[in-house]
Amino acid sequence: MSKAWWKSSVIYQIYPRSFADSNGDGIGDLNGITEHLDYIKELGADVIWLSPIYQSPNDDNGYDISDYQDIMTEFGTMEDFDRMISEMHKRGLKLVMDLVVNHTSDEHRWFMESRKSKDNPYRDYYIWKEPKDGKEPNNWGSCFGGSAWEYDEETGMYYLHCFSKKQPDLNWENETVRKEVFDMMTWWCEKGVDGFRMDVISMISKDPAYPDGPVADGLHGDLSPYVCNGPHVHEYLQEMNQKVLSKFDLITVGEAAGVTIEEAKKYANLDGRELNMVFQFEHMGLASGEYGKWTTDRVELKKLRAVMNKWQTELEGVAWNSLYWDNHDQPRAVSRFGNDGPMYREVSAKMIATCLHMMKGTPYIYQGEEIGMTNAYFKTIDDYRDIEAINAYKEYTESGLINEEDMLNDLKMVSRDNARTPMQWDDSPNAGFTTGTPWIKVNPNYMMINAKQALADKDSVFYYYQKLIALRKQYEIIIEGVFEGLLNDDENIYAYQRVLGDQKLVVACNFSEKEVPCTLFDGKEGQELISNYKFHKDGVLKPYEARVILY
Ligand code: GLC
Ligand code: CA
Repeated sequence: MSKAWWKSSVIYQIYPRSFADSNGDGIGDLNGITEHLDYIKELGADVIWLSPIYQSPNDDNGYDISDYQDIMTEFGTMEDFDRMISEMHKRGLKLVMDLVVNHTSDEHRWFMESRKSKDNPYRDYYIWKEPKDGKEPNNWGSCFGGSAWEYDEETGMYYLHCFSKKQPDLNWENETVRKEVFDMMTWWCEKGVDGFRMDVISMISKDPAYPDGPVADGLHGDLSPYVCNGPHVHEYLQEMNQKVLSKFDLITVGEAAGVTIEEAKKYANLDGRELNMVFQFEHMGLASGEYGKWTTDRVELKKLRAVMNKWQTELEGVAWNSLYWDNHDQPRAVSRFGNDGPMYREVSAKMIATCLHMMKGTPYIYQGEEIGMTNAYFKTIDDYRDIEAINAYKEYTESGLINEEDMLNDLKMVSRDNARTPMQWDDSPNAGFTTGTPWIKVNPNYMMINAKQALADKDSVFYYYQKLIALRKQYEIIIEGVFEGLLNDDENIYAYQRVLGDQKLVVACNFSEKEVPCTLFDGKEGQELISNYKFHKDGVLKPYEARVILY
């Protein structure tokens, strides 16, 4: 295996809670994953990234960890884990674990000690501050609503939580904290895991001045300028690399909220001093407005292309891109960037997949994306399970900033629960996800959209993804070719080429439901590698048509 296997890999993300329930309690689990490994193998992905499976009180579905070296009770046991990883490796599949070390759960032993007294040996594991004028140390709002500071009666001080109050931030300035994290990572590596997806890793180093943030939404100060890409983040990651990552053959991706191109060149530099790649967020935030992500606006193609092309061209030869349209924190890709109505769902799902998978970088597929699963479009707030959605609904409607109807419409478009409805396996009750009551409602469209149906249809979105993955293995130009944008002002078409030696790969994707003029391919003889239409018309792209031609 070549050294940079992570460059030619395709990663499949599993959200274990919603993937497959093996014991009827309504919650997905490790044995459920093990039972479906052949499905992922069939798709052709090489690597499986699991959202957190560690012991957790589940305030944020496992992103609040109370024991890093134990498996979440609902998900199974360490024996189930050992069996799962050995079944993966048997099939040539690699395992990436989610590493959530910006914060722990407030039920982690370290925090329970830390809050006991000011001189507890674990006190400095977290970020404690004295009240300022009898109130919070600054105006920062947490990413899940409310203040980012929680007052603790016991010692009369506040602790920082960038996320929920059950997710206190670790103090990375403390060398012992870093050592604990590195030792824990080594333990998992020695157990055989093949990499880490590092949760909000860009947030581990805070601005030591803790200044008030700008107030945009009328509620709280924005903490991101002071917690993202902080003063020591690269130092800490280089230390992690020296002490852990460089000792094993791993794939690493950092979730990097607020990352700029300049920062990404440090995090994901090809010199290998830090990580292999980062998840950048610029293309996720393009429709954001006055109330942050809470909007029904769609992303304009022009803006999307400008951002994606910028990342493609500016990292060239310096750093490596990750490629994604969705994950467990985002709405469904086809609903957001394609068209999820019955007429165009499949063709547009294939189109957006083409657009992404022919770019330079490592593609990520989120469970269900490969069958074109859509947003949930829940009708009432009671259907939501996500702490972010529930808190935001409460905070915005109670403050009167957004009315209930508008907020429900915003949630339908962008809530994280859109991606968290159970995997749709077949058309049996609860989509074959569970024999019990699912922890979150199944999308009623499972009767039409499910894996069983997709596997039975040669023209399905599933087989199209399978082909995209196979092409990546076959043509080096898809991995190494230099990216160049084409038709950069077109209203409807996203086009680009990849260049390697004297080869050229031309990709054109119609993001609209209209037939649009396109002369890119006219009068040239090339080899079609993939398209979502069997027949083409000269001089045009059909609704949501995608074509990839090798010259
Ligand atoms: C990351 C995770 C998200 C989680 C948050 C806090 O953004 O992807 O699901 O809620 O970090 O851990
Ligand atoms: Ca279960």
